[in-house]
Amino acid sequence: MRVLLLGKSGLLGSEFPSLLTQAGIEFLAPSHHELDVTHFDEVDRFMAREYFDKIIYCIAYTDVDKAEMERGLCEQLNVKALENILTHKRPIVHFSSEYVFNAPANVAVSEETKREPINFYGETKLRAEQALEKSGVSFWNIRTSWLFGTGKENFVTRILKKSLEEDVIEVVADQVGRPTYAKDLAEFVFRHFILSTLESGHYHLQNSGDGISWADFAEYFLQKRGWQGEIRNIASTDLIRPARRPLNSLLRNTKLPEVLRNWHEAVDEFLSISN
Ligand SMILES: NC(=O)c1ccc[n+]([C@@H]2O[C@H](COP(=O)([O-])OP(=O)(O)OC[C@H]3O[C@@H](n4cnc5c(N)ncnc54)[C@H](OP(=O)(O)O)[C@@H]3O)[C@@H](O)[C@H]2O)c1
Repeated sequence: MRVLLLGKSGLLGSEFPSLLTQAGIEFLAPSHHELDVTHFDEVDRFMAREYFDKIIYCIAYTDVDKAEMERGLCEQLNVKALENILTHKRPIVHFSSEYVFNAPANVAVSEETKREPINFYGETKLRAEQALEKSGVSFWNIRTSWLFGTGKENFVTRILKKSLEEDVIEVVADQVGRPTYAKDLAEFVFRHFILSTLESGHYHLQNSGDGISWADFAEYFLQKRGWQGEIRNIASTDLIRPARRPLNSLLRNTKLPEVLRNWHEAVDEFLSISN
């Protein structure tokens, strides 16, 4: 098997090279600099030259607030670049987000729930999903949320850093979700969608366990770190941010045979290996 990994410098993409190497799978992982996916001609020439059995597509425009202003760039990366890759008709693992939905609080959305994004990033992720559906290519679209890990800055690393400088940290308390450890997600995806093949379609994957608000999540890992400060709960509406967020980020998996471990365990492991 020969795999193309795109987005290897990202939070999630950076988890795959060691998995591929350990399994002895031949792969190419061009950097952004080596292959800019928005340069369609270059991508076409590259794809005509190389053969791949599967693509792991971890590229995306992921800055949800900036996306409202940089709409062209976000669309180019999340939709157009993917559509171009799909013209090469290779089976693809793609990642999407709970932001394609806008379900009421505390109702877990299943794979078939009606998609109705409320911000531009979510709209582009929905259009990416529709491009996969129309492509005629075998695809595994993994919707996930609240990623944390060692590969790139994220909510956990940002709050940990803040806690070194501040005694009071304001965190949104009215959005509920489940954190997902990039390492766990990548291992699962590798086992179930690269080494073996489930039916083409949409899948929901988060670490398991009870839903939690951003504020309670921050409280959890800061307490574990022995922080003596105060988490001050605020409402999403207290923050002036360009992009609206759904209040509910709980995804219900009705299709996968196993689930990821409890997020508490995953966060504890992450804290034990990060400073
Ligand atoms: N992070 C989350 O909480 C979250 C939640 C739900 C779903 N997701 C989805 O999960 C997937 C992975 O997200 P992530 O957080 O790991 O993303 P990320 O850390 O922002 O990484 C994005 C990757 O895309 C690459 N890239 C950007 N523009 C490119 C271009 N023009 N050509 C080639 N490469 C380019 C980046 O390379 P450079 O760094 O070199 O530019 C980087 O490797 C995405 O589909 C995202 O929508 C993420």
